[in-house]
Amino acid sequence: MAEIRTIGVVGLGAMGAGIAQLAVEAGYDVVGREVSAELGERAAATIGRFLSRKVEKGQLGEADRDAAVARLALTTDLEALAACDIVIEAIVEELEPKRRLFADLDRICRPDAVLATNTSALSVTEIAAATARPQRVVGMHFFNPAPLMPLVEVVRAELSAAEAADAAALVGERMGKRVVRCHDTPGFVVNRVLIPLLNDCVRVLDEARVTPEALDTAMENGAGWPMGPCTLVDLVGIDVHVHAAEALYEKLREPRMAPPPRLVAMKNAGLLGRKSGRGFYRYDG
Ligand code: 3HC
Repeated sequence: MAEIRTIGVVGLGAMGAGIAQLAVEAGYDVVGREVSAELGERAAATIGRFLSRKVEKGQLGEADRDAAVARLALTTDLEALAACDIVIEAIVEELEPKRRLFADLDRICRPDAVLATNTSALSVTEIAAATARPQRVVGMHFFNPAPLMPLVEVVRAELSAAEAADAAALVGERMGKRVVRCHDTPGFVVNRVLIPLLNDCVRVLDEARVTPEALDTAMENGAGWPMGPCTLVDLVGIDVHVHAAEALYEKLREPRMAPPPRLVAMKNAGLLGRKSGRGFYRYDG
C-alpha cells in the first residue's frame, strides 16, 4: 500500500487526544473527529498545552510545536476521514458503537486504508466483521497516558492481512513506540495480565481492610509499581476498566476477570476516576 501520511483519529477523549498528539509530533497530518466542535477544541487545547510544556522543558522547538499543532485538523464529520491512509478509533469501549463506526468507516474510507481500533479488551475480529474489508482491520492498542507509555500492541485479528499489521507497526514505531505484535485473544498481552491483577487489588481493599492510600503505598513501595493500583484505575477510568473486565470475563469465564462489585457500584454512581473529578480519590479542577 501507499506510504501512510494522513492519520484519522476518531474520538478525542484522553486516549484519542494522546494518539493524535503522538501522530502530529511524528509528522503525520491528522484528521481528528469528535461528535461536537467543543469536544474537539478541548482536545486540541490539551494537545497544545502538552506540546508547549515540552517547549518549556527544552524537549521541543517552538517552530516544531507550531508545525505539529498546524498538522491537526478537527472535524465533526466522519466523511472528512475519506482522505486518511489509516484511521485509529478511540471511542467508547463498547462493541456495538465500535461496529457501527467501522461499518461507516468502511463505506467512507479508501479500500486500501487501514482501519485500526484502540480497544482495550474487545474482539478486534468482531469489530472487523462489521466491515467488508476485515483484512485491512487491526488492533492498535495504546496505553494511558498514550504520549508517555512506550508500548503499542499491534493486534492481528483472524482475517487481518500481514501487510495491514505491518503498516500499523510502522506507524507505532514512527511515533517512537515499542511495538509488540500479538494475536486477537481477550485482553491481548498486557490487559490479560493487568485487569485481573487490578481486580485483585480492589478486592484486597476490603479483604485486608486497607485504604486506597495504603494499598497504593504498598504496591508502589513493595512491588515497584510506578503508581498504585487505585491511582492507576482512576487514571484509566473506572468505566473503562469495568467494561474491559466485563469483556474479558464474558470470553474467559474466569472469576478473577469479573469486575469487583465495588468498582461496578462506583461506575454506576458516576465515580469514574480522574475524568469525573472523583474515583478512589478526589481531583480538583
Ligand atoms: N504529553 C506530553 N507530556 C505529558 C503528557 C502528554 N500528553 N501528559 C503528561 N505529560 C508530562 C507531564 O506534564 C509531566 O511533566 P511536568 O511535570 O514536567 O509538567 C511529565 O509528563 C511526567 O509527569 P509525571 O511526573 O506524572 O511523570 P512520572 O514520572 O510520574 O510518570 C507515568 C508518569 C508514566 C504515567 C507513570 O506514573 C506510570 O508509568 N504509571 C503507570 C501507568 C500505566 O500503567 N498505564 C497503563 C494503564 S493500562 C492501559 O492503559 C490499558 C487500557 O487498555 C486500559
